[in-house]
Amino acid sequence: MAGELKAVDVSLESLGRNPHFATGLPVPLRAGDAAPANGRTFYVETFGCQMNVHDSEKVAGVLLGRGYRLVEQPEAADLIFYNTCSIREKAAQKVFSRLGIHRPGSPQGGKIIGVLGCVAQQEGEEIFERAPWVSLVCGSASYNRLPQLLAELEAGNRRVMGLSLDTDATFETELTRRDNPYRAYLTIIEGCDKSCSYCVVPFTRGPERSRASASVLEEVRRLVDLGYSEVQLLGQTVNSYRDPSPRRMSFSELLSAVSGIQGIRRVRFTTSHPRDFGPDIIAAIDACPALCNHIHLPVQSGSTRLLREMRRTYTREDYIEKIVLIRAARRPVSITTDIIVGFPGETEADFEETLSLLDVAQYDGAFSFKFSPRPHTTAEHLPGSLPEEEKGRRLSALQEKQRQIQTARNTAQVGRTFEVLVDSPSRRAGQWAGRTTCNRVLNFTSPQSNLLGEYVRCLVQSAGPNSLVGEQVI
Ligand code: SAH
Ligand code: SF4
Ligand code: F3S
Repeated sequence: MAGELKAVDVSLESLGRNPHFATGLPVPLRAGDAAPANGRTFYVETFGCQMNVHDSEKVAGVLLGRGYRLVEQPEAADLIFYNTCSIREKAAQKVFSRLGIHRPGSPQGGKIIGVLGCVAQQEGEEIFERAPWVSLVCGSASYNRLPQLLAELEAGNRRVMGLSLDTDATFETELTRRDNPYRAYLTIIEGCDKSCSYCVVPFTRGPERSRASASVLEEVRRLVDLGYSEVQLLGQTVNSYRDPSPRRMSFSELLSAVSGIQGIRRVRFTTSHPRDFGPDIIAAIDACPALCNHIHLPVQSGSTRLLREMRRTYTREDYIEKIVLIRAARRPVSITTDIIVGFPGETEADFEETLSLLDVAQYDGAFSFKFSPRPHTTAEHLPGSLPEEEKGRRLSALQEKQRQIQTARNTAQVGRTFEVLVDSPSRRAGQWAGRTTCNRVLNFTSPQSNLLGEYVRCLVQSAGPNSLVGEQVI
């Protein structure tokens, strides 16, 4: 995985395959997690973006709170949840191939199967048609109903479903079983009210709902008590946050308030929508040392004509203004992006504009995707669809160019010293890996043992397109 910011169509950290299990690291839970065991075990596999990863953590919390026990292997589970992604066709297909494994009579048959997340919402009852052995289908906008759905399952109901989208509830749980012992995810805004013409998210995650600022701040304080010093605030358009409480905190005020909590050393947030990205966010970064030097600002295309077709609500020039704003911050802030190539009607000239934007923006990372037509979206039936080979050619050209830019930008860090939060041992003995504030992976050597969870200073000695290499400065 190239970075934590990726909204991907591959399986990310799944709770059951948590690398921290292997290393035996503590994974803090909130108080009250020791519900009496009910003798049943569960496993969750997660696909998709960080919001899904975090939803799975909350789902696991709900189950732990009911006395289920989390297991590492699906074979050992009575109940298996797939938390699914439908952002691109391939991601959605993968779910159905997973479900096939549990066909009755197969070695993995006979288990209770639940389908959660974006494919659940999109396909709904259809899932029971295609895989009749599935017992639970629930979209993320209905997760507040999960305890009730579980109770219905436990009562012997064969099929239960939660697909309502017209809810203004957010998914807050008594107990969240966090996957990473150092960096805690925290959803501050759910759903999406933008209507980008290619995107399923408004259909799969429902309307935008922000969480009250006091509730966010309270959870951050609890996270500090559990030993976390880094939090990542999540939302599909995180900077569209609107405090529903009478306090009416703006997003940048919330950033400052979270950063000001004693014990919080790093605050990240993703994903920012360019339209709602204002100078107040940069002012907050300038004023708050705990706000990390990194912004993920998906552009999607460098062509104003295509941006209009995509209904992104900004032009190339508007976007470049945001880049200029970020580059004017007092600290060097790294910028990453998402790009779609081969949108219907994308001409060679449009594509060239995207390539030239890479030169202007000088991204520190870019996640790029071939356009994939999605159900219900207006782009699904737009004329001018491009052949797969042409999309592939453009994707490779873009990735090659970005690779060169990243290599140059990372190489420019050689000789500099960074503080990293160490989050994993490297494969080689005496080597560790951590992230800088600008979200670069830094692999480094150290004579010290057990650096996990520590902040250490490292000198960068060499660099590749995706990471830095160095040594600890003692
Ligand atoms: N909310 C975020 C992105 C969510 S989806 C935002 O607005 O930027 C993550 C990325 O997947 C998007 O930024 C986009 O680059 C890509 N994506 C979304 N729909 C897609 C589609 N139909 N085909 C290809 N890529 C898509
Ligand atoms: Fe999708 Fe656009 Fe919403 Fe992002 S802002 S989730 S791309 S509709
Ligand atoms: Fe995928 Fe849903 Fe996230 S479609 S990218 S899991 S919001």
